[in-house]
Amino acid sequence: MEALESKNIFKSIYDKYIKRDGSKELMAWLESDKCDFFTAPASAKYHLAVKGGLCEHSINVYNNLKWIVEKEKTLHPESVTNITEESMAICALLHDLCKVNFYKISERNVKNEFGNWVKEPYYTIDEEFPMGHGEKSLYIIGSFMKLTRDEAAAINWHMGAFDKRAMGGDHSISDAYEKYPLAVYLQMADFVSSYIDETRE
Ligand SMILES: [Fe+2]
Ligand SMILES: [Fe+2]
Repeated sequence: MEALESKNIFKSIYDKYIKRDGSKELMAWLESDKCDFFTAPASAKYHLAVKGGLCEHSINVYNNLKWIVEKEKTLHPESVTNITEESMAICALLHDLCKVNFYKISERNVKNEFGNWVKEPYYTIDEEFPMGHGEKSLYIIGSFMKLTRDEAAAINWHMGAFDKRAMGGDHSISDAYEKYPLAVYLQMADFVSSYIDETRE
């Protein structure tokens, strides 16, 4: 998807469903030159490591989250009663704000098909604010608008088993998943997008 196309889709979902205090200021920041959200890749070398990949990934997570929640409406309606359209849009579209201003473009020498050395651009990581992953997204969103507890838990724990705190033995992640179905669904939507739907190197 072209970066401009994904930006337009992202903004149309955001403007339609996210109405809470601070949301306009958050969008203004995303669009400002202080923030590379709409041009950043989703990763340095794993999924959607391309210009605009982060925005496209966020849309993919949104579509998968909607699909999962819709399916669960039939199977386990009690699990989705508190999940609003606004919550789904906030969690999916903003869960990876920790990746804003995080990737930089460097150059390396590679041999081309004719055996000549040429310079090739690639993404590197340059963390300006080391705060972890889900917890960093939470901090950034929280500096613009308030989140409900289930939204906060979902964004905080969206890395699932790859969360460094969980790897270190923190059981809060499974306690959160038991308490907040939205957290389970966001993590599933993120994994389906990253590992199945999106191009990987
Ligand atoms: Fe993430
Ligand atoms: Fe993600």
